[in-house]
Amino acid sequence: MEHSEWTPASWRQLPAGQQPDWPDPHHLEQVQKQVASLPPLVFAGEARALRQRLGEVAEGRAFLLQAGDCAESFTEFSADRIRDKLRVILQMAVVLTYAGGVPVVKVGRIAGQFGKPRSSPTETVDGVTLPSFRGHNVNDQHFSSQARTPDPDRLVQGYHQSAATLNLVRAFTKGGFADLSRVHAWNQEFVGSSLEGRRYEELAHGIERALRFMRAIGIETESESHLHTVDFWTSHEALLLGYEEALTRRDSLTDEWYACSAHQLWVGERTRNLHGAHLEFLRGVQNPLGSKVGPTATPDEVLGLCERLNPEREPGRLTLIARMGASKVVEVLRPLLAAVRDAGHPVVWACDPMHGNTYTAPSGHKTRHFDQVLAEVAGFFDACRAEEVWPGGLHVELTGDPVTECLGGSDPVADADLQVRYETICDPRLNARQSLDLAFLASELIGGRPY
Ligand code: TRP
Ligand code: MN
Repeated sequence: MEHSEWTPASWRQLPAGQQPDWPDPHHLEQVQKQVASLPPLVFAGEARALRQRLGEVAEGRAFLLQAGDCAESFTEFSADRIRDKLRVILQMAVVLTYAGGVPVVKVGRIAGQFGKPRSSPTETVDGVTLPSFRGHNVNDQHFSSQARTPDPDRLVQGYHQSAATLNLVRAFTKGGFADLSRVHAWNQEFVGSSLEGRRYEELAHGIERALRFMRAIGIETESESHLHTVDFWTSHEALLLGYEEALTRRDSLTDEWYACSAHQLWVGERTRNLHGAHLEFLRGVQNPLGSKVGPTATPDEVLGLCERLNPEREPGRLTLIARMGASKVVEVLRPLLAAVRDAGHPVVWACDPMHGNTYTAPSGHKTRHFDQVLAEVAGFFDACRAEEVWPGGLHVELTGDPVTECLGGSDPVADADLQVRYETICDPRLNARQSLDLAFLASELIGGRPY
């Protein structure tokens, strides 16, 4: 298979892990045909622009911030939620840019993050066994036979929700919401009164002073579009290959294939098998790609990923997202960093400090402790520094709401608080304050001045 010809459907010749057991294959086929007739969600030129920006990250000249929900929800879907998520990502980006002193490439886990891999295909509660929840593109998390039966029509709903989300994100990022003059306004009330909120306020004052200074010396700030808009890209895990295939289109400018469901797609820790269907699909689309890399990955496996997904060795094509766990990140990451560096593969190394630190609290909630999240980020920077590799970015699960899903933080979420606002449909997310706190820590590790 390695050397045979790639087509958007060539993945079908290979074993595809983590695909739902759709009860009616004919229905699935019809839906995929329907999706294939719908307009692309993103354009090839946009994906190319992101690839170029990520090339700057690979070369140590910029930093990647990739953030959003573990799994987006069909029901918890509103303009306010999209705005609040974007707002906290913009706040983090401003902290990293101003305090850290580096350009920040902003990518959301948004507008398509609807498919989830699971450790077991079924779940048993009180003696009843049903299919596992696999994301809202497949089924619903509610524990009933009807809710858990995979329904292909959900793929169409996922497409339309992605389109609506992307539309609002484009409006917010280009239409005034992301304007630097609003840097104060992004601080929500419940954040503003906190420790990290006050730290942010100070930083925002600094930016305002800088803008005033620029105007005072005669720089036309009005006409400088960099001040008023941001480039923001979308990404999700490329899990449901039939859906991805249906949105794969040939670019009329270059004649190359692009996955047009999002700007960047990544492959998960469970599906990054070198000889599996997911890598076969991804190797043929020209989007920037990501791969999760967990603590059991060997240097050979990681080099295999680089060869398979980026044989031309183009900076920006491949981002490796390390998700090791706080206690072992330095030890297990260093040999991988060294191997990729020595082989001359120009990847972006990003840190996912969430997925290696998940555990179940006594209350039964899946959670993560903020101290461990911070510790993994610090360990990631240590490992990169030790191997003289640029610590390229952060990949986090967060929300703009004051949820209580991850423990700890400056106003600590305690075990007993988990039940208060535990709203995720999948993994626990950082709340807005924890997210901001994390951005300050990362900005200090990048080498900026402490604020
Ligand atoms: N356009 C610049 C950038 O994206 C500056 C900028 C404008 C910005 N609004 C922002 C940066 C909001 C971070 C957040 O870097
Ligand atoms: Mn997750």
